[in-house]
Amino acid sequence: MTKQEISTITITGANGFVAKNLRNFLSKNHIKVIAIARKTFQKHHTETAVYSKTLLEKGLQNKLRNCDALVHLIGIGKQSSKYNFEGNVDLTKNMIKTCKKSGIKKIIYISGLGVTKNSRSDYFISKYKAEQEIINSGLNYTIFRPSYIVGKKDYLSKFILKQIKKGIVIIPGSGKYHLQPIFVEDVAKIILESISEKKFSNKILDLVGPEIIKFEDFVRYFVKNKKTKIQKINLESIYHEALHNPKSIYDLDSLNLLIGDYTGNLKQLQKTSNVELRPIKDIL
Ligand SMILES: NC(=O)c1ccc[n+]([C@@H]2O[C@H](COP(=O)([O-])OP(=O)(O)OC[C@H]3O[C@@H](n4cnc5c(N)ncnc54)[C@H](OP(=O)(O)O)[C@@H]3O)[C@@H](O)[C@H]2O)c1
Repeated sequence: MTKQEISTITITGANGFVAKNLRNFLSKNHIKVIAIARKTFQKHHTETAVYSKTLLEKGLQNKLRNCDALVHLIGIGKQSSKYNFEGNVDLTKNMIKTCKKSGIKKIIYISGLGVTKNSRSDYFISKYKAEQEIINSGLNYTIFRPSYIVGKKDYLSKFILKQIKKGIVIIPGSGKYHLQPIFVEDVAKIILESISEKKFSNKILDLVGPEIIKFEDFVRYFVKNKKTKIQKINLESIYHEALHNPKSIYDLDSLNLLIGDYTGNLKQLQKTSNVELRPIKDIL
């Protein structure tokens, strides 16, 4: 299918960071979208808004008929007494049922960089199980495993900028572990490409930017002013704080992700995608 032949794309988690950017991009490209969210949101003129909490509501399947693909962007990134990571698996199962009933044949899923069958964290295990549900669904799929996705108002940049406002940025441990951030607009382009290009069929691809960067150097992109202090705190203390202080700026899951030192297979992504990936200095 060429880009011109794409009729409609369904997006779940329409209110999230990646979804908003993807929806902007698709709207600019005049591609129709059915945007599914659990709360009200502002839609583009090219979009139909659909409200759903479980992805199984009666009548939902009919609204999604004739869609070319579904981009599943619902993700539970933090556990609470209300939602746990198992929700990532349950909502994926529901999404697959709905795709099958509405005749959607292609699923795009955003997992996480570093997810494997040997993953140990509950978050990664839930992402791995969700991936397996999709792979075993019999539907066509592309699974992306992204590093930090950055762009206007991304979570990691906002987190650092918030600390800068207070005059001090905390770096857990040495800060020498790596990330491989990717620009959210590049992510949107690659997602569209994965719907139109056959070579993305039934593949799992790391979604990483062109540079590997140490976290301490990433922080320095933001700290331009000498008034901001950068403080490294040893891992034992910062994990202790994350475990015992509900007001701690880092929680356990975000610490595990950050110091996990995850970098990805850029070559495989570049072999599959024609999108020219933007370097960090052009993004931040
Ligand atoms: N951003 C990154 O750097 C990054 C990196 C790696 C992987 N990912 C993955 O990419 C996907 C999108 O990320 P994002 O940054 O856009 O995340 P996000 O901004 O947190 O968006 C997640 C979306 O999921 C929805 N959601 C969460 N829990 C839900 C539930 N129980 N039922 C229904 N909807 C629920 C949220 O709905 P509400 O708006 O109603 O809360 C939100 O729209 C996620 O799966 C995430 O794990 C993101």
